[in-house]
Parts: sequence; C-alpha cells; structure tokens
Amino acid sequence: MEKLLIKGGVRLKGEVAIGGSKNACLPIMAASILSGGTSAVKGVPALRDVLTLAKLLQNMGAKCEFHNSTFETDTAPLDNPEAPYGLVKTMRASVLVLGPLIARYGRARVSLPGGCAIGARPINMHLAGLKKMGAGIELEEGYVLARADRLRGARICFDIPTVTGTENLMMAAALARGETVLENSAREPEVVDLANALVTMGAGIEGAGTDIIKIEGVDGLKPLDYRVIPDRIEAATFAAASAITGGDILMKNCRPEHLDAVLIKLKEAGAEMAATPDGLRVIGDGRPRAVNITTMPYPGFPTDMQAQFMALMSVADGTSIISETVFENRFMHAPELRRMGADITLQGGLATVKGVQKLKGAQVMATDLRASASLVIAALFAEGETVIDRLYHLDRGYERMEAKLRALGAVAERIR
Ligand code: EPU
Repeated sequence: MEKLLIKGGVRLKGEVAIGGSKNACLPIMAASILSGGTSAVKGVPALRDVLTLAKLLQNMGAKCEFHNSTFETDTAPLDNPEAPYGLVKTMRASVLVLGPLIARYGRARVSLPGGCAIGARPINMHLAGLKKMGAGIELEEGYVLARADRLRGARICFDIPTVTGTENLMMAAALARGETVLENSAREPEVVDLANALVTMGAGIEGAGTDIIKIEGVDGLKPLDYRVIPDRIEAATFAAASAITGGDILMKNCRPEHLDAVLIKLKEAGAEMAATPDGLRVIGDGRPRAVNITTMPYPGFPTDMQAQFMALMSVADGTSIISETVFENRFMHAPELRRMGADITLQGGLATVKGVQKLKGAQVMATDLRASASLVIAALFAEGETVIDRLYHLDRGYERMEAKLRALGAVAERIR
C-alpha cells in the first residue's frame, strides 16, 4: 500500500495550479446521462473518484475516454441503468446517477450506499424527492429500484440542505413534465456549476446558489461541452499549508469568491492574502492565532476544510474550539494529530484544540479524504519525518499532491 513520506520544516514558496473541482465534476459527468450523445467535460482532475464515475458509466454501456483533463462520454449505447454495489461502496457519490437514470430511462437500479467513515450519510431526502416527483421506489437486496414513466414536477422542501440531494433532484427535474421547486436547497458553488452545465444542455433552471431553485422540465437535452470550476477545497488546503509553514504561495486557477468563509478564518488566524490577476497569494506570517470555527452548509465554513483547519489550529497560539455540525463522525484525524504531539480533546461534535509550539513527525494513518489532507498539513510543519499510510484516501480528491508540494519546495515522496 502506498504511503506519503514528508520531511517537515520547509516554508512553502512558489506557484501552484489548482485543479478542477472534484465535487463539481462528479455530478456534471453524471449529467451526461441526460442526453443521448457525446458529452465533453473539461478541466477534470485525474482522481480516483473521477475514474470510479467513469467506470460506472462504462459499466452501464456508455463509451468513455479521459485525456488531457477532458472527459468524453458517448451515452447513446447506455443500456444498463444500474450502479452495482462493487462501485458504489468505493464512492458514495455514485448515487448521483440515480436522478439522471430515472429521468432519461424511466428506471434505475442503484446500490444503496452503506455507512461511511465520516457519518451514516443516508439518502432518504433524495428518495423522498423522487417519490414526490412520481417515481416508484422500492428497496430490494440492498438496491434502490426506481421507476417512472415520466417524472412530474413537484414542490420539494429539504429537511436540511443536501448537496448531492439537491443535485440529484435538479438533474431528475430537468427532464420532468412541468415545474419543480426545490426549497431549502444546498447553495454550494458545485450546485451552481451543475446548474450552469445543465443550462448549456438546454435545461430551464433558475435560482441555483439561493435556497429556492426552480426547474422547468424540458423534453430533451443536448450533450455537454463544459469546463468545471476550480476546486475550492484543494485551494483552501494549499492556503492552510502556506499558513502553517510561514509560506508564500500563489494559487493559480482559483476562485477566491468561493473561499470567503475559509479566507476570513485564515486572516483571523494571522495569514495574509492578496488577490492578484494571476490568482490568490497566501502568506503565512508567524505562529497562527487560535480562532474558533463551526462547520455549516455553504456559505458557512465547509466541513471539507475542518480537518485541515484543525491541523493549523494544533500549533496556534491559544485554544481553538472546532464545532462539526454537518457530519457526526468527522474527527478521526484528531487521534492521528495527537500522535504527532497535538493537544486535542473531543466531546461529541466539539473539539478543543490547545495550540502547541511543536509537532513531531510520526507514522500516522489516513482515515478519510480530508483527514489525510490534515495529516499532510501537520507533517509539513512537524519536526522530522512523517509517514502517512493509506494514501489512497488522499488520491480520491487531490491530484498529484506530493508533486505539487515538491514544486513548492516541500520534501514529499510517495513510498511503498
Ligand atoms: N443527509 C441526510 N439525508 C439525505 C442526505 C443527506 O440526512 O438524504 C445529511 C447527511 O448525513 C449530512 C447532511 O445531510 O449530515 C449534509 O450532507 P450532504 O447530503 O450535503 O452531503 P453529500 O451530498 O453526501 C457532499 C460532498 C461532501 C461534502 C458534503 C457537505 C460530493 C460528492 N460530496 O456530500 O464531500 O462533505 O457535501 O458539504 O459533493 C469530500 O469531498 O471530502 C466530501 C465528503
């Protein structure tokens, strides 16, 4: 199993190009199912999750190719509207094919994702919404069996904002008869990017980015030719890495307006930023100050940056309270950070992080995608060598992280 070896203590300096957004390109790739032609999605990062979605489409009969950050798929031959357990269990976002499949083929058989390391993550709101649109939903042998001659528009109010739930129903509604109104929708930039992509296909969508999205169903959609937004979480992760190492990095292909909540907290912690015509520059200035965060749906502080921020706070001057409100089990990086010398106490959804002066390299284990990024950030600061095991978690969401870090001066190497 591959591991990442990092020798800490180097100030990151230089330029880094941020890749396309993982969580935008997964639903947009799934949206290709809605048309029967050849779609192109551009700016797609070479990540394990992207390859899983491509395999899923191939398994359904679509033809897929991926080269130079462009994903091309011909969905005309798609004749098996099924997402098997073997693929869904490796990536929960596979459930994003459910909405488009039922909208276009009138039937879908999609494995129910099981629990996940960071929480139970049910899909009840996706299913309730599809039912309201007239789909018959049955659960059989761990699979969701969905059927509908043609979905019909409906008024749906989410109990809490759900990112992939909003995306699934937006895709389903794009081909439904009549208008669908999604209330208490997720407002994440990835939801907006999917809406923009669907509009280029001919969909009638208004309000994406607000909590009320209106979708006027159409009879057919054109194939996609679309470039995804840059990955705000990858950018925020590099920003935190610059802050902890006292670095000075310029992030190219970055949309600072998607990063407001994180940048405000990094500034409070003492980092300096400057938007330049080339991108966003983040400068770490001395020991970070302790600041508190509470994770929230967008535009709040993203749960996908909580682990990385905890690594930064573990060496801050003072005590920081970190409150995780989105997922019930997203503190698994805390015991690993403790192995490096961090002083973190957990109680329910609260972490109390007492900043220490030093971290020391250790052997640690990645438990999920963002937890692995948190360990990378801690390792960049720590004295000595850190070896991060189970690197496949990092590869799900960061393209060639070690190469990008090396280009910024870090000592980072993939080992077996
Ligand atoms: N929830 C339900 N029922 C549902 C759907 C969600 O109870 O039917 C709950 C979840 O358990 C959670 C909350 O609602 O407590 C919000 O979850 P959401 O549905 O928004 O999460 P998601 O769509 O499964 C996406 C991202 C995650 C990110 C979350 C929150 C993708 C592919 N995944 O997941 O990304 O953490 O939104 O922003 O877009 C990651 O990239 O590392 C990652 C985990």
